[in-house]
Amino acid sequence: MATVAISPQELDRLDVSRGELWAASAWRPHFAKLRAEEPVSYCPQSIFGPYWSITRYDDIVAVESDPETFSSSWEHGGIVIFDMHDTNVQLRMFIAMDDPEHGEQRKTIAPAVTPTEIAKLTGPLRARTAKLLDELPVGETFDWVHSVSIPLTTAMLTTLFDFPWEDRHKLPIWSDWAAKIDIGPDPVLNAEREKHCFEMAAYFKKLFDERKALPPQPNLLSIMAHSDAMSNLDDQRFMGNIALLVVGGNDTTRNSMSGLIERINQYPDAWAAVKADPAGLASTAATETIRLQTPIAHMRRTATRDVEFGGKTIAKGDKVVMWYNSGNRDESVFADADRWDPTRENSRRHLSFGYGIHRCLGARLAELQLATLIEEMAKRNMDVKLVGEPERLPSCFTNGYEHINVIMSRDNV
Ligand code: HEM
Repeated sequence: MATVAISPQELDRLDVSRGELWAASAWRPHFAKLRAEEPVSYCPQSIFGPYWSITRYDDIVAVESDPETFSSSWEHGGIVIFDMHDTNVQLRMFIAMDDPEHGEQRKTIAPAVTPTEIAKLTGPLRARTAKLLDELPVGETFDWVHSVSIPLTTAMLTTLFDFPWEDRHKLPIWSDWAAKIDIGPDPVLNAEREKHCFEMAAYFKKLFDERKALPPQPNLLSIMAHSDAMSNLDDQRFMGNIALLVVGGNDTTRNSMSGLIERINQYPDAWAAVKADPAGLASTAATETIRLQTPIAHMRRTATRDVEFGGKTIAKGDKVVMWYNSGNRDESVFADADRWDPTRENSRRHLSFGYGIHRCLGARLAELQLATLIEEMAKRNMDVKLVGEPERLPSCFTNGYEHINVIMSRDNV
C-alpha cells in the first residue's frame, strides 16, 4: 500500500470504496463531486490498496473499449477492487480473462441466452411470479428481499442449471459469499468465503460429471460439459465460472427487484403511470430500475502499460476502477439523472451491464425477469410501502440489500 501523506478530509473525498458509504446509501454526493471536479482521480490508500476512480460515462466507455491497455485478467488481480491474488479463491472465470481465452468461453455460454432460448423461459417465469405475488401477505409487514427477490431469482437459476430444487436454498448462500469482496483482506472472513466457494465447486462438479456422462441437454452445466472450451477446466477455472454464473444470475437481478421497491416509494406518481400502462412502460421501468440500482457498482481493470488518461498518468500495474453507479448518473448523458423515469428515452444506454467485449451475457434475461415482475404487480394494482429504512449491504461491489420491510395492498386477479 502506498504511504502518501494525505489528510483525512482528502482521503474521505477520494476513497469511495468505504463500506459505510454504501451501507448508508450516502455515496451520491461523493461521486457527483468527483465527476464535476476530478473525474479521473487517484486514491492512494484504502483497505483495498491504492486505486484510480473513473467516474464519468464517456471515460468508462473509453476504458472498456481498450481491453489491451486495461486488462481484466485474474493474472493482474482480476475485475474487482479487492485483489484476487490475496485469496485462495482466485475465481479464474472468463469475465476475469482477456481474449482469446475469454472469447472462447463466452462463445460457449452465449447460445444459452439468445432471444429464442430466453423466450422459452417466459411462460414458466410469468406463472411463477404470479403465484408468488398471489401468496404474499396483504396488510402485514414482510421482508421483500427474502419473500420476493431471493425466491424469484433462485428459481430462475435452478432452471438455468437444471439444479436440484430441494437444494435451491444453497444457491443464494454460495452466491453471497462468492461476491463478498467487501471483507477485503480479513483472514477469518476470507477463510469462511473460501469454505463456501469450495463447497459450491464440489457440489457443481458432481452435477457436471453426471451431465457429461449423459447426452447434451439444454442447461448451462450440460452445455459446458459438452463444449470444447469448457469441458476440461482446471479447478480454479471451474469454480470461477460456476461462481460467475451463480453470482451473475443471482445477486444482480435480486438487488434490482429490491431496488424497485425503493424507486416506487420515491416516485409514486411514476408508479401509478406504470400501473395504468404496463404494456407501454414496464420495459423502461425495468431498465430505469437497473440503471439507478446499478447492482454491480464497479468493475476493475489493471493498466498493462503507462497511459495518459483524462489528463492523468496511469502507471502500468495500477488498479483502475470504473464506477458504473456514477456513469449512470452522468448528467451529460441522462438528464435529471437521479430520477426514476419510466418514459426516459435513453434509459437503455445505462452502464449497469458494462460495455464492450465483457458486456453482460444475462442482460436480456435480467430485464425480462424484472419487467415480468413489474407487469404482474401492475396487473394486481399492487402498492408496496416501505416500513422503516431498508438495510443495505456495506459493499462497494454488490450494491444491494439485506432486508427491506414492506407492507402491501393488491387487488385479486
Ligand atoms: C440486473 C442484472 C445483472 C447485472 C446488473 C449484471 C451486471 C454485469 C456486469 C457489470 C458485467 C461485466 C460487464 C463488463 O465488464 O463490461 C456482467 C458480465 C456478465 N454477466 Fe451479468 N449482470 C446481470 C445479470 C446476469 C444474469 C442473469 C446472468 C446469467 C444468467 C449474467 C451473466 C453474466 C456473465 C456470464 C458475464 C460475463 C461476460 C463476459 O465476461 O464476457 N448476468 N454482468
